[in-house]
Amino acid sequence: MLLELYWPERRWVLAGEIAFLCKASPVWILPLVTANIIDIIAKRRAGGFGALATNAGIGAAFIVQNIPTGYLFAKFISRAIRNVENRLRSALTRRFQMLSIGYYDRVSAGRLQTKVLRDVESVEQLSRQLSDPAVAAVVSILVAIGVTAWRMPQFLPVLFLLVPLVAIIRHTMSERLRRYNQLFRKELETMSAQVNGMISMIPVTRAHAAEEEEIARVEGRFGKVRDAAQSFDRHATLFGATTWVAFMLFNLSCFTAAAGLTYSGVLSLTPGEIVLLGGYFNAVTAAVMQLNSMLPVITRGFDALHSIGEVLEEPDIEENRGKRAVVSVRGAIRFENVSFEFRREAEEKTALRDVNLDVAPGETIGVVGPSGSGKSTLMSLLTGFLRPTSGRLLLDGVDMNSIDLRSYRRHIAVVGQQTILFDGTLRENIIYGTSRVSEDWLRHAIEAANAGAFIAELPRGLDTPIGEAGARLSGGQRQRIAIARAMLRNPRVLILDEATSALDAASEARVQEALERLMTGRTTFIVAHRVHTLRKANRIVRLENGRLAEEEPGPGKLRFAVPARE
Ligand SMILES: Nc1ncnc2c1ncn2[C@@H]1O[C@H](COP(=O)(O)OP(=O)(O)OP(=O)(O)O)[C@@H](O)[C@H]1O
Ligand SMILES: [Mg+2]
Repeated sequence: MLLELYWPERRWVLAGEIAFLCKASPVWILPLVTANIIDIIAKRRAGGFGALATNAGIGAAFIVQNIPTGYLFAKFISRAIRNVENRLRSALTRRFQMLSIGYYDRVSAGRLQTKVLRDVESVEQLSRQLSDPAVAAVVSILVAIGVTAWRMPQFLPVLFLLVPLVAIIRHTMSERLRRYNQLFRKELETMSAQVNGMISMIPVTRAHAAEEEEIARVEGRFGKVRDAAQSFDRHATLFGATTWVAFMLFNLSCFTAAAGLTYSGVLSLTPGEIVLLGGYFNAVTAAVMQLNSMLPVITRGFDALHSIGEVLEEPDIEENRGKRAVVSVRGAIRFENVSFEFRREAEEKTALRDVNLDVAPGETIGVVGPSGSGKSTLMSLLTGFLRPTSGRLLLDGVDMNSIDLRSYRRHIAVVGQQTILFDGTLRENIIYGTSRVSEDWLRHAIEAANAGAFIAELPRGLDTPIGEAGARLSGGQRQRIAIARAMLRNPRVLILDEATSALDAASEARVQEALERLMTGRTTFIVAHRVHTLRKANRIVRLENGRLAEEEPGPGKLRFAVPARE
């Protein structure tokens, strides 16, 4: 997956790594230069000064080029890494917009936020480690093997002894480290979800004087995060220390063995060669240790990739690709034996059972029923947020499962039980999702929603940022903004789930009037507890415990005309 991610950046990565090899070359060249210099001194040959100067010059040249090549490396690699980081975040966002609405009932916002922020960052760190220290370590090892093979081939087998050593350490430690990290990450996600929840709950918590309980609950979670982090840290450190000791001992014994063998005359190495050998053994052990010390970051990075993959590969998406887009909607809606079950882990909860309902274009259907009877669920089926668990839902005679819901939703407007406003101006909130709105039409919608008066009182009218006005918008005002939104869309299907429940009698009457005007000629579903809001309904259906229990003829005073096709 990491390779796939970096494939589009391969040119930058390649350029970066070439620059990197140049930049890092002194590390591998200097031991050779040092060995040469030592041998020059040891042999005291004639013309030694010239050779010394040459060696020193070569060494210095390799050192100095580090600055420009280092700069190029940073530039290229940073470009690649930042591009990937950016793409990951967009991919996640894109996916969030595709996942079914039901997914968000199961997975909390905090958890998803952690993925966009922390996990992407972990992948970035992983990439940095892999592009710099990891490459350096691998090249060090290769160079050491190469030079050893060239200058002292008899020591090659000793270098390869490192392989089993590394394998043993990895085998015993790294799997455990991965598990600890996974635990830590899960705790962190849960914590983030809980902090998010706590902040949005603050008004409720305060109103119930439950501050201490809430603090204790969240602190309990912090404690778990701390414990998970500590055990990860402990194991990472232990891991690092064990590796260090093992390699240093190995190093020391090799160096002493080489010196001892030369001293006793078994081998004939020059002092320079012994230093060289020592130098490269050091380089190799340092490199292997470097790789090992990177293990926590690498573990975390791959784990983060896995966590991001969880979302990117989550199958619960709203599948719209390849489905037929609807160009116009007449508004005939038919429920055929529709049942719906909420599934959460093993539990199942039937919210609708065998609902049959045939709605003609332009008809207004009032939906009543006790709380929890399934009214909102019925409305969510209409918007396509939920799909029938069994049965069919037909739009203009076509199964909703076979159409591109996005194209259908351009023709509907929903005013729900809660009005969600985003951080923008009032105007942006009202025209959200509607393209090309004339100022007149906007004014009209606002007036019809009975929102003109309170908007005029805001300091900057329509251009007041919600953030500033947010605290000052009452439930009823927010609801009127939602109604203006709906009016503006000029929908063919209108879904009102207790849309006027938060309004006072006077403004409800006015909004009701505007809504009734809006309903004319559109298929409308109104969920309401108050009967007078349903006076213009053609039919009223009653939900009871998920069943469409009775259907009584509505007051049906509304004269509606079937609208012509658009
Ligand atoms: N996301 C969910 N997961 C599991 N069960 C759910 C979910 N949403 C609703 N339910 C259950 O489905 C049933 C129907 O809920 P629904 O929201 O449709 O009721 P309602 O008629 O709109 O109630 P109200 O009048 O209070 O708004 C309820 O028993 C509820 O507990
Ligand atoms: Mg409801």
